[in-house]
Amino acid sequence: MSGAARAREVGHARAIRGSLSVPGDKSISHRAVLFNALGEGEASITNFSPGGDCASTLGCLRSLGVDIERDATRVRVRGSGLGGWREPADVLDCGNSGTSMRLLSGLLAGSGVFAVLSGDGSLRRRPMARVVEPLRRAGAAIDGRDGGRLAPLAISPVASLAGLEHRLPIASAQVKSALLLAGLFAVGETTVVEPAPTRDHTERLLRAMGADVQQHAQAISLKPGPTLRCVDVQVPGDFSSAAFWLVLGVLHPAAEIRVRDVGLNPSRTGLLTILERMGANVQLEHNRDVAGEPVADVVVRSSQLRGIRVGGELVSLAIDEIPLVALLGLFADGETVVEDAAELRAKESDRLAVVAEGLAKLGGAIESTPDGWRIQPSTLEAGHADSHGDHRMAMLFALAGVLGSGAEIAGADSVAISYPSFWADLQNLSGE
Ligand code: S3P
Repeated sequence: MSGAARAREVGHARAIRGSLSVPGDKSISHRAVLFNALGEGEASITNFSPGGDCASTLGCLRSLGVDIERDATRVRVRGSGLGGWREPADVLDCGNSGTSMRLLSGLLAGSGVFAVLSGDGSLRRRPMARVVEPLRRAGAAIDGRDGGRLAPLAISPVASLAGLEHRLPIASAQVKSALLLAGLFAVGETTVVEPAPTRDHTERLLRAMGADVQQHAQAISLKPGPTLRCVDVQVPGDFSSAAFWLVLGVLHPAAEIRVRDVGLNPSRTGLLTILERMGANVQLEHNRDVAGEPVADVVVRSSQLRGIRVGGELVSLAIDEIPLVALLGLFADGETVVEDAAELRAKESDRLAVVAEGLAKLGGAIESTPDGWRIQPSTLEAGHADSHGDHRMAMLFALAGVLGSGAEIAGADSVAISYPSFWADLQNLSGE
């Protein structure tokens, strides 16, 4: 993204205190506009994510002729109905957003228009065969660079799509969603079998709109047919953004943070399990249900942690929070091991490599393994860390600087992808 190369300095904070709410959930915001754009009627979405990724999805939908009005975090979408999208006049720009590109691939496969999906340098390096190959098996005409492994992806109209049974080789909510969404246009049932549970926002919202979505153990099936009704969505706070404050609050020796209205969908909260196993002081208050998603306030306080081993299904339930486990490990007693996390290499950056490089530059004892890290208790020192333009890496290194002896972070503006007010919120919490 533009300006992502700008560096920013943070200093050590003496205390961390405060109460805040984080931006609306990115995953739910994408889905709320994408699915309502296919529905009948009109929907109002509140607390829509202010980040660049969801703006990319809105831009793509507008280019497809969808009637969208936006006023800050309130978005109104008039559904075009299945098959009501118009052919875009230019390439659809997904920016940095894997969710936009993969979910739109599934939706466009059956939507009867010709479209090309592209994005920034990071997105054009990310693996796309995982959606292209199963979509082709369903009859989609989809192509891309390197035989369909990389974007740009070009999607042409086809007479019809067939239902599909697909076993995901790697757990991925984006791929699961892309295939279920293509299934809305298919003749026959689509079934996706997951190797480990992933975020289920697609299933929840499609059901709320009237789709026939069933789950049996790890198999999720969609039968096409029912009309999708537009539904209003109140987007909960993004757990993946709140996660930074939960980790800062438990690691700082003089901290108390309350994050209000956080989405706690159990397919997203692997980090809470990890924090509990490490011995962190985390409390959930005002538990409630908002638009079919569990929500609560989360209160964290300074804690002494113990090192643990994190792998298996927990990785999928904390996929975007695993980098924070490396930071937790630097402050815990004993060794922390992260394994089964090779998928982090396929994110906005190679997060296994970028985390190890950045934390090591700040004095962290972190050793890379093929699928994770081994982390030892460390004393952090001042230094320079490069986010490689990856929003979650910039926020991670900011925490390392605040907890340690300060840091200069390259690519600091990338936080705007998911959390544009991150630096302001950090300043408020640290009272600097
Ligand atoms: C997302 C799914 C995850 C996650 C990403 C958002 C989604 O990606 O890392 O930030 O909204 O479905 P994968 O499905 O590729 O694991």
